[in-house]
Amino acid sequence: MEKGIPAHIGIIMDGNGRWAQQRGLVRTQGHLEGLKAAKRIVKAASVLGIKYLTLYAFSTENWKRTAEEVGFILGLVKQYLRAEFDFSRQNKIRVRHAGDFSVLPPDIQKEISDSIANTADFDGMQVILAINYGGRDEIVRALKKFALANQEADKISENDISSYLDNPDIPDPDMIIRSAGEYRTSNFLLWEGAYSELYFSDKLWPDWDKEDLETAILDFQKRDRRYGGVKA
Ligand code: FPP
Repeated sequence: MEKGIPAHIGIIMDGNGRWAQQRGLVRTQGHLEGLKAAKRIVKAASVLGIKYLTLYAFSTENWKRTAEEVGFILGLVKQYLRAEFDFSRQNKIRVRHAGDFSVLPPDIQKEISDSIANTADFDGMQVILAINYGGRDEIVRALKKFALANQEADKISENDISSYLDNPDIPDPDMIIRSAGEYRTSNFLLWEGAYSELYFSDKLWPDWDKEDLETAILDFQKRDRRYGGVKA
């Protein structure tokens, strides 16, 4: 979609730790506020008519954090899925997952699987939770699936790689947003984001509100997307 509302937005929700630090609070308090911001943005995105929203909740690199912080973030995912089910049902929001599911703790796996199953028929916005997600890891897993399907390596095409990614039916993100003033994409949607418009904001994630999403979309609407071609 060139103009108008982007069909798919990916968000790198950064700055929870700094938000807490600035207030003399523990980092986990920042994640708790980050979860509230995520809920606000899911609601706003659904009202705006966005079709797919991918949230980078936990990366393959986030295991390097303390066991307490890892457990806390994964616990928030569980809390989010449970607490938001009514909202999902009312707004027909379908929950999906991106990332390596196999090594997640069994209780988190169950919560995610249940949410996916319970919302599978909803035809509103799709919220893709990237949990234990890494773009490089996703490509490695895609190539393993390709090899296991006994495909011939010399025939591999871009479409083949796309078709073995975690959610091949979901269109590539039109825009990737990152909060908290960091100008990198940190292994998020590496393949899918090849032509995404990047939007960086200095605002820390827990401070994000509906207006910030709208400002990002207004900026997106001014972009000239050429996909390597020239303007008609
Ligand atoms: C980055 O901030 C944030 C994370 C690694 C976790 C994001 C998780 C949530 C917002 C809660 C779960 C969300 C959902 C939708 C279930 P940071 O800790 O790297 O911040 P810093 O760079 O300031 O330290």
